[in-house]
Amino acid sequence: MYHFVIVGVLVILMTILTYMGIDAVGLARHMNPVSASAQAVFVDQMWHWEIWVISFLFSLIVVPLVYSLIFFRQKKGEMKDGEHVEGNTQLEIAWTIMPLIIVVIFAYFGAYTLGEERRVDPNAMVINVKAQQFTWTFEYPQYGFFSSELHLPVDQQVVLKMESADVIHSFWVPEFRLKQDVVPGRTTEYRITPDLEGSYKVRCAELCGTSHAYMENPLVVTSQADYDAWVQEQIAIAAASKTPEGQGKVLATSNGCVGCHSADGTKLTGPTWFDLFGSEVPLADGTTTTADEAYLAESIKDPNVKVVEGFPANVMPAFSLTDEEISNIIAYIKTLK
Ligand code: CUA
Repeated sequence: MYHFVIVGVLVILMTILTYMGIDAVGLARHMNPVSASAQAVFVDQMWHWEIWVISFLFSLIVVPLVYSLIFFRQKKGEMKDGEHVEGNTQLEIAWTIMPLIIVVIFAYFGAYTLGEERRVDPNAMVINVKAQQFTWTFEYPQYGFFSSELHLPVDQQVVLKMESADVIHSFWVPEFRLKQDVVPGRTTEYRITPDLEGSYKVRCAELCGTSHAYMENPLVVTSQADYDAWVQEQIAIAAASKTPEGQGKVLATSNGCVGCHSADGTKLTGPTWFDLFGSEVPLADGTTTTADEAYLAESIKDPNVKVVEGFPANVMPAFSLTDEEISNIIAYIKTLK
């Protein structure tokens, strides 16, 4: 009995110390990265309680183990066998009932949290999201423009309707805590209420190909006023894009071209479009070709016919666009000098 009391007290002390240790490195309460959505609060709360249980279970194993090693050692000259134990009904009942209660409590917490994550605000704003190797595209259907940046107003629920153009991706913003797969052939939903202004990143959390690690787009959470200003700016840009070059720029964004082909000379997954038109392009087979209309059109429709030196084949998917769309994209490429 005396040993049980001491071990019991030590287990409680060890639980508190373990919890404090985990908390000190920012993994219990004040989490890193910060939480930036109303939904994150419930996830963090549940995580916090799990850390308490983890600390307790860790102590429940380690304390009796170390205590036994120290106090129940074989003494010098002690040769007889240990006491034979047949079983302990009380102990067996305890270690069946206790985990059962803990699991039931956490099942309740889990269901409650899931319910809160899915709570629907009927005024939620809809944004369409397209995932493709290796970029995200955001469409604001109520205004009719596309963007490679996701801008959201603070404290308003948005529902992202997400589709994939190729393989399985996963929409992930660590600060929002929630993650949702984007699966070809169906539309998945992601509901979020950002509650902290700032700049974050939309990441992809599903290995989707060679440049999976670079599949990230900017996410900006701003005040309603700044958001409205950004929307007006985007509408103006969209209006200015009625020209072939402008149309081409819109197509390059909505089809995700800009995710791999920079407009400023930066080397991304694919060759840059800067100063491309009319230049001599070295090819993987050792020859060169002139970047004229015919070459650019061919490379959009059938990217593996002429592969640029230094870039792997079979990375860019073939795009089936109309002749007009292709000539608009080429018109846009011509402006990049
Ligand atoms: Cu898309 Cu990983």
